Amino acid sequence: MDKITIIGAGNVGAHAAVSAATLELGHIILLDKDADLAKGKALDITQSMAVSHSDIMVSGTGNYEDTADSDIVVITAGVPRKPGMSRDDLLDINADILESIVSQVVKYSPECILIVVTNPITTMVQLAYKVSGFSKERVIGMAGILDGARFKHFIAQELNVGASEVMTMVIGDHGALMVPLKDHCQVNGQPIAELLSHQKIENIVSRVQHGGSEIVNLLKTGSAYFAPGLAVIKMVKSILRNEKKTLPCAVYLEGEYSTKGLFVGVPVVLGRQGVEKIVDIHLSEKEAIAFKSSVEHIRERTEGLLEKRAK
Ligand code: APR
Repeated sequence: MDKITIIGAGNVGAHAAVSAATLELGHIILLDKDADLAKGKALDITQSMAVSHSDIMVSGTGNYEDTADSDIVVITAGVPRKPGMSRDDLLDINADILESIVSQVVKYSPECILIVVTNPITTMVQLAYKVSGFSKERVIGMAGILDGARFKHFIAQELNVGASEVMTMVIGDHGALMVPLKDHCQVNGQPIAELLSHQKIENIVSRVQHGGSEIVNLLKTGSAYFAPGLAVIKMVKSILRNEKKTLPCAVYLEGEYSTKGLFVGVPVVLGRQGVEKIVDIHLSEKEAIAFKSSVEHIRERTEGLLEKRAK
């Protein structure tokens, strides 16, 4: 049976654990610096599995030895934002947390695939890559699946169709400068430009770009977790079951999309080896301009952080 470790038993981590358990993806270890929190949530989730006659076990711990030889490690530990904060405001505090966690992960699960959910994701995943020394195929950030789901939901709501009818792709950063690919968005094969006015599309794109803040402002404490928790498990499933799904994820680019030496959200094929292929889609002129700004923003933030930590 595959072993999945989820680090951080807060809102996102616990929901990811529920999602992985429901899909019966493997034995799940939930680790938190607050061991009792992890143990309590693990018991509750395992008992919920007994309600549905599933044998899946979730074990809670504060000890990295229990995570040894995991196939996949998902990092959700970190501080979420509060109203008025951007994901970038979490940079230094979450970088400290991430660095300490990654060294433990590498020690106990040197062969694992590492998925980072902690924000700001595109920068945190690059830090994880550097600290782990893993190959680029084994370090991945969760970003575009969540943003793509938000895009789907808003289009579906506007057109009064099911979300499953809508095809979306969101690339670049996970933040206000993310790039929802409007020119690639289709409903049952029909481009959205044929279904919605320019203004309506622009309003939806802006709502997607600020989709996280909309939820932060409503919740008042903490940020979204149902959709992020499930989104990361979609990645875990594609990897462990070798589904080879094409999903937008933050991966290390070495020239693809005219970008070098940086983690950026782009469509990739996820299978048992991790990132098995970077899918090159042709961007329209406007999409390419927006992608370039997004990459510049990620580069500035990521290189700034890495330089600061090298001192
Ligand atoms: N080691 C282990 N666990 C830690 C550590 C650490 N060094 N530091 C913090 N944690 C745990 C906390 O104890 C807490 O249980 O991480 C958990 C975070 O949970 P929440 O505060 O509920 O935050 P959550 O909403 O889950 O978001 C976590 O994911 O989506 C991102 O922006 C979000 O960066 C944030 C992360």
